[in-house]
Amino acid sequence: MNISVNSKKNTFHLYNDEISYIMTVLPNGQMGQLYFGARIHEREDYSYLLEMKSRPMTACISEEDKLFSMEHIRQEYGVFGATDYRMPAVEIQQENGSRLSEFLYDHYRIENGKPSLSGLPATYTENDREARTLVIILKDPVMQIRLELFYTIFEKGGIITRSARFVNEGVNEIHLASAMSICMDLPDSDYDWIQFSGAWARERYPVTRHLTPGIQSVGSLRGHSSHNHNPFVILKRPAADEFQGEAIGFSLIYSGNFLARAEVDSYGTTRFTMGIHPEWFNWKLSPEETFQTPEAVMVYTDKGLNHLSQTFHRLYRERLARGYWRDRERPILINNWEATYFDFNEEKLLQIAQKAKDCGVELFVLDDGWFGQRNGEHAGLGDWFANKEKLPEGIIGLSEKIEDMGMMFGLWFEPEMVNIDSDLYREHPDWIIQTPGRKTSHGRFQYVLDFSRKEVVDRIYGMMSKLLSDAKISYVKWDMNRSITECYSASLPADRQGEVYHRYILGVYNLYERLTSRFPHVLFESCASGGGRFDPGLLYYAPQGWTSDDTDAVERLKIQYGTSYCYPVSCMGSHVSVTPNHQLSRVTPLHTRANVAYFGTFGYELDLNKLTEEEQNEVRKQVLFMKKYRRLIQFGTFYRLQSPFENNVAGWMVVSDDKKEAIVGRYKLLNGANQPFERMYLKGLDENTKYLVNGNETHYGDELMHCGMVTTDASAGEAGPDEKMSCDFDSELYVIHAV
Ligand code: DGJ
Repeated sequence: MNISVNSKKNTFHLYNDEISYIMTVLPNGQMGQLYFGARIHEREDYSYLLEMKSRPMTACISEEDKLFSMEHIRQEYGVFGATDYRMPAVEIQQENGSRLSEFLYDHYRIENGKPSLSGLPATYTENDREARTLVIILKDPVMQIRLELFYTIFEKGGIITRSARFVNEGVNEIHLASAMSICMDLPDSDYDWIQFSGAWARERYPVTRHLTPGIQSVGSLRGHSSHNHNPFVILKRPAADEFQGEAIGFSLIYSGNFLARAEVDSYGTTRFTMGIHPEWFNWKLSPEETFQTPEAVMVYTDKGLNHLSQTFHRLYRERLARGYWRDRERPILINNWEATYFDFNEEKLLQIAQKAKDCGVELFVLDDGWFGQRNGEHAGLGDWFANKEKLPEGIIGLSEKIEDMGMMFGLWFEPEMVNIDSDLYREHPDWIIQTPGRKTSHGRFQYVLDFSRKEVVDRIYGMMSKLLSDAKISYVKWDMNRSITECYSASLPADRQGEVYHRYILGVYNLYERLTSRFPHVLFESCASGGGRFDPGLLYYAPQGWTSDDTDAVERLKIQYGTSYCYPVSCMGSHVSVTPNHQLSRVTPLHTRANVAYFGTFGYELDLNKLTEEEQNEVRKQVLFMKKYRRLIQFGTFYRLQSPFENNVAGWMVVSDDKKEAIVGRYKLLNGANQPFERMYLKGLDENTKYLVNGNETHYGDELMHCGMVTTDASAGEAGPDEKMSCDFDSELYVIHAV
């Protein structure tokens, strides 16, 4: 990995074994983009990549040069207004009303490793040899604003991270109306755009369309990254698929309002921009102040979408997630939410915990309803002390009893919210986000605390840290169950109201940072009505997240499959719940519920006392299975094999780094009569190694990958003597060991 600088040509080339990223200073002093893709040779001169052409109806920068128009030049951080008509990376409102800016190259510096981003989550290195960072420093001579563009190349993987920092070196205040994290101009537009969209209980379904002239975008204006669109987009060549071909993934390490946008211009080039959503964003930058954008991560591959995902998985698992739990197998938990909802007392909880303990479960999580007057959705949020009617000995007493059983204890919070019926609201009705003179909307009867205010965050920190210090709490589920509306902060002046959404998220990050550093051994799981804030920003603080409120196995198959395009298995909260399922009323076999939930952090969301003796024994076996294989599942290499969005039979697998172990999950949606023969083509094995499949047959890796593993079930005909009849939503796991 290196960064080479050609100072004669003012060209910068970041490269490692897989990729090259090349840019140059343009004749007018702005930064031009030359290439991002597979590694290419180092050359003296790449200026041929700077395509310019005289075209009618083109405004040119100077009368001396009829070719030079920013309209036709690929740039690193485009601005609108001076011959470039595309959507910009930056827009700055100045005191005289002008919005024009011009950032000219000043100098560069190279740092070993990767600097952290103040107050923001970001990927990191553990030593300076893992990555190098190029900082290009540009200046706007009129505003005297310094712009620093950060580019980090990692030693391994086709990864470039980017962010921008603005420093006001002038004497006037300015307003950043748009400051994207990344602007990437690609030379053509022959790409399929894949976004990950959905809604509550059906998050992150892949949606694909070919890029067309004009603008296509996804984003969120809900104050959180949202169930609706994830801050992750892939541009892939139409011929690329899971196992071959070119693709670029763009991921934003941010949990608030975001925009991902591709603009295809009339000449077929594509400008991709991603960052904080400019709508309702307006950041006042006074002299000497700085503004740091969130980080965007770009991954290039020419080996297909699985390889793209695996690069994100490793990076996010090892160099975004942090702390004690980062590399540790995740405890198998039982959560009481779907077992009791708000209707519980200590006795009931202890019964649930005891049965779970008998079945081998390691962590008991008490969900919503344990605090204040929280007997339903109308009251209690904000009062983070135990409801003594339900828990006479409080959280301290309950946590000790759970620990005495030999289990860890975990607790649910929703730190950012308040009910009107709460002591906190009665004391501080002015602490919620609301616009003066306007109605304030509720969501689930709750209101959003103004986390842009330090005193609000401090108060919540005080309540949470007291509990975490006093009681034996090993795990926190941090929930967030509504979007922001009527966004306005009573603590900020009129000309800073455009900062509220971003300051809110900075407040969330601040609370996470303080809690995770003071309680480093506590495992945090993020949640937002399921997957409403399932993004890389929170992965920095919480190494796992509740993937979706939908616990139905068939729906989860799709949700986890879609989520896996960017996020590693180790971060996907996944539980076995009861049937009929509470979200869909669907009945699925217990083994299928587990076979899906294994590919995540694994746990149960039901009262095991209510299962039959036979089912409880099955649960015991499931827990033993997960304990045996969770290192492989959570930290192995994950492959999507067959999509549940396109096939009746879906499949995925994990393979250990040494290729000696693998587990394949095969999932059938509907059963059918007299079905075709079926094989699953495995991946990632060693061609020359002999593997034992489910303790029965042995096959070489090349057979399993090229001939395929035969998975035909009884529905292809009559059930044979040793065969069980298949059913709807049936599934099978194949455990594969090298012999
Ligand atoms: C939404 C979460 O996603 C659920 O798991 C549960 O914690 C409820 N909130 C509790 O209110």
